[in-house]
Amino acid sequence: MIEIKSTNYSVFIVKDIVKELNSFFKLNKVKYSKIFILVDENTLKYCYPQLGAEVTEFKKAEIIEIDSGEENKSIELCIQIWSALSEMKADRLSLLVNLGGGVIGDMGGFIASTFKRGIDFINIPTTLLSQVDASIGGKVGIDFNHLKNEIGVFSNPSGVFVDINMLNTLDKRQVLSGFAEMIKHALIADENYWNEIKQANLSNLADFDSLIESSINIKNSIVQKDPMEKNIRKSLNFGHTIGHAIETLFLDHNTVEKTLLHGEAIAIGMVCEAYLSNQKLTLSAIQLKEITNFILNIYSPALFSESDYDSLIELMLHDKKNNNGEINFTLISAIGKSEINKIISTDLIKESLNYYLEKSQIVLKNKNI
Ligand SMILES: NC(=O)c1ccc[n+]([C@@H]2O[C@H](COP(=O)([O-])OP(=O)(O)OC[C@H]3O[C@@H](n4cnc5c(N)ncnc54)[C@H](O)[C@@H]3O)[C@@H](O)[C@H]2O)c1
Ligand SMILES: [Zn+2]
Repeated sequence: MIEIKSTNYSVFIVKDIVKELNSFFKLNKVKYSKIFILVDENTLKYCYPQLGAEVTEFKKAEIIEIDSGEENKSIELCIQIWSALSEMKADRLSLLVNLGGGVIGDMGGFIASTFKRGIDFINIPTTLLSQVDASIGGKVGIDFNHLKNEIGVFSNPSGVFVDINMLNTLDKRQVLSGFAEMIKHALIADENYWNEIKQANLSNLADFDSLIESSINIKNSIVQKDPMEKNIRKSLNFGHTIGHAIETLFLDHNTVEKTLLHGEAIAIGMVCEAYLSNQKLTLSAIQLKEITNFILNIYSPALFSESDYDSLIELMLHDKKNNNGEINFTLISAIGKSEINKIISTDLIKESLNYYLEKSQIVLKNKNI
């Protein structure tokens, strides 16, 4: 077991999750009056059975099941879950266990932080994205009025238990979505880690143990330095200014059909923002090419076109991270080195979208030969 210490809680990367959870509850100073486990239909089916049968404290736990999907990270579902907790007589000494991906973790954390002014929660992340990203850093919340993560608070769990075996039932697209955040961690913070990431065998999750650990360490050390995102935490937004706009375009827009997972959108954002880094900072043409080829060989090209550029810029302007009509970026001056608060003109942003479309068409053609 590896323990990574964070602000008054730990992330445990475990080999035997049952054993570690049993000893966590044994050693924990707080004796919980009741335990509630939040799941969706997939984590209930794939992740809960062993834990429910073998973790002593979970044997008498109450299960709260919701439907999977980002559309359920909503105030309506919160009301249902708060009601369920009330009806089942949850009190200030109750514990909520978030067993699932980022949707369960974000919403469960928010529910726990607001119910009776806050009860303890632990995260057992079951997707790669939630293991390396969403379950760490204390951001919890829900979507509201079609705006992602519009309502929420900063609130830390009492513990995070990461078990790579949870990922065995996850489909490949979801694995790759989480992998995009690992690529981001390498690009903003650690060139050696980038070199390891490049060697990763994406079809063999057993290879991922040490990569997951490196990613958690990077994210954890950044959020510990700047928990409220006043400065250095913004480096985690690399790829996200353009990536979020593309994610929303695919959610909202009628002209684009295929849905995009979060990490797939961020992968596109990273190619565009690496281009901006080459134009505005010192990222070399060689490293830009290396990043572009690596990402485009993993993720299939997204079907948007020049006619979507104005909508994308509009979406970037409305992003809550951007003020005064200026679009704010985190860029990289080299692989492993990020710089925050870079303002980029809309013309250059459009140029970066052109760069993505052009390069992704070339990769697509080469793959078809
Ligand atoms: N709080 C943060 O700092 C932070 C950071 C990044 C992302 N997020 C949030 O995370 C969410 C995305 O998280 P996600 O990618 O984990 O999506 P998700 O929670 O929707 O999970 C993806 C799918 O995988 C299924 N699933 C989960 N575990 C499984 C398993 N072990 N086997 C089979 N299927 C499984 C789920 O039921 C779901 O259908 C978004 O809402 C995003 O805003 C939060
Ligand atoms: Zn992200």
